[in-house]
Amino acid sequence: MDEIRFGRGVDIQLAREAVSECVESVCRNPDAMLLLTQLKNRDEYTSEHSMNVCIFSIALGRHLGMAVPELRNLGLSGLMHDMGKMKIPLEILNKPGRLTEEEMALMKSHAARGRDILMSSRSIYPGAIDVAHAHHENLDGTGYPRGLTDTQISPFTRIVAVVDTYDAVTSDRVYQAGRTHMEAIGILNKESGKRLDGELVMKFIECLGIYPAGSLVEMSNEEVALVIEVNPQQKLKPKVIMLLDPDKNPRPHRVVDLAKIDLDPSGQPYRIKAILKNGTYGLDIKRYYQQGLIQTAVL
Ligand SMILES: [Fe+2]
Repeated sequence: MDEIRFGRGVDIQLAREAVSECVESVCRNPDAMLLLTQLKNRDEYTSEHSMNVCIFSIALGRHLGMAVPELRNLGLSGLMHDMGKMKIPLEILNKPGRLTEEEMALMKSHAARGRDILMSSRSIYPGAIDVAHAHHENLDGTGYPRGLTDTQISPFTRIVAVVDTYDAVTSDRVYQAGRTHMEAIGILNKESGKRLDGELVMKFIECLGIYPAGSLVEMSNEEVALVIEVNPQQKLKPKVIMLLDPDKNPRPHRVVDLAKIDLDPSGQPYRIKAILKNGTYGLDIKRYYQQGLIQTAVL
């Protein structure tokens, strides 16, 4: 926190180690692992989403200056938050169109069902039960299942609600195409201070940066690149890997540190022009994650 206060940015290596240590220890929790495996076998999307929420929560907690034991509990709460979806029929979870009123009520019951599942698991951190039950509550009282307001919603639940919203809107689903990082930030900002905790929204955006690792970007000269590492000192100039030439044809992959390069090959100023949706020009970000090119999603 001091590093940020003095304008030096975070120690990326240290932060990365803290996050991965927490993710590992959360994954080693046998009860959590068992539940997650069951969820993964049934519903791949929800288990992937839960893992993202776990990582984003830890990253945000870390950015807020929480200590490691607290981060473990937070990560676990993120990982378990949607466990109630195990009890929701898959045809409702994956329904492409609008849900009927009845289906919606069933869908919403995943919050209370999550609480029940976790309560019957003996060794789970009790705060995770609260998060599973309350992660769809809104600060303005418009949420479910209990219509809690402001002070009734715990800090961990507020954190999970912010990162859950971010991951849900950026994901591709049968009923929606995933939105870009910038669009998701727009949505978070709109909900800030209404449904979501304004302070946390601000901190989360700050912690993700403008072009987080894993963003597909178009350069000023029309080349297409993938952000692989954020430079905490120069967030607009991350390290990227060039994928397509200006005509959008594949080109030999080349890693470029934008913080070190001012001009493009034709001598024009070189910068990121826009964020592209995953899948644009047939590029699938997942493939690069699998190849290990993107070091970490959030830091
Ligand atoms: Fe949920």
